[in-house]
Amino acid sequence: MTQARDPAIVTRTIRGMAASDGAGVKLTRVIGSPQLDMLDPFLMLDEFGTDRAEDYIAGFPDHPHRGFETVTYMLDGRMRHKDNHGNEGLLVPGSVQWMTAGRGLVHSEMPEQQSGRMRGFQLWVNLPASAKMTEPRYQEFAPDRIPLAEPARGVAVKVIAGSIEDAHGATVRGPIEQPATEPLYLDVVLEPGAAWETALPAGHSAFAYAYEGDLRIGEGDDARALAAHELAVLGGGDRLVLRAGEGGARLIVVAGRPLREPVARHGPFVMNTREQLMQAFVDFQEGRF
Ligand code: CO
Repeated sequence: MTQARDPAIVTRTIRGMAASDGAGVKLTRVIGSPQLDMLDPFLMLDEFGTDRAEDYIAGFPDHPHRGFETVTYMLDGRMRHKDNHGNEGLLVPGSVQWMTAGRGLVHSEMPEQQSGRMRGFQLWVNLPASAKMTEPRYQEFAPDRIPLAEPARGVAVKVIAGSIEDAHGATVRGPIEQPATEPLYLDVVLEPGAAWETALPAGHSAFAYAYEGDLRIGEGDDARALAAHELAVLGGGDRLVLRAGEGGARLIVVAGRPLREPVARHGPFVMNTREQLMQAFVDFQEGRF
């Protein structure tokens, strides 16, 4: 037996498909599409990014969620959210909102700007059967509450969830807590040609999504190129090796423990059985969210 970690390899690359959600917000759906239905525990990944106000201005008016978590990470722009339990907040560039919908809530996510760039991600993370009906909960952090590490030369990493080692071997931990899936969520900036290796949690589903520039993932003959707006599904090992191309790269790296439970989903409800899904519709319609 060797203690050395095997490098992760790219098992698939996927380009998102153009989609529209909310009241007509244009976005790119990367997970939760015919190409990649889900990557347990991740149910959906949307990238939104536009300078055109008409692509986002209608926002996401009141809509329900039950049975999972929505994670909004803003790169540019301002979005105000409000829910029917009296929670309200403003998402600004670099902030994260990790919303555990649990048993259910109704909320809106509306742009708080008339012009300029709106850019970021929304990720849906499933909850185990035992946690689907918990009380709704928010973990919301402003940019200055998210640790920024420089684990190698030319590498800057915002640690939103999970942990990495910095250049001195000290652990840098993100503020999000979710024991059910133990998520890792990193926003990585690689300067041109910069390289970085980091550990992925063993046995967890993992992906990297490049949103600017390009890079290579893996080692030697197994290394694969990843272009901007491509997602790499990772497998085969738990040591992630990244090397930026000549223009540098920006990407998110996300991992989580698969739940391996049946999934019954329709729109904003994600349960384990069809019966529970029907109950979600009834509860929503009868105002029990
Ligand atoms: Co929502």
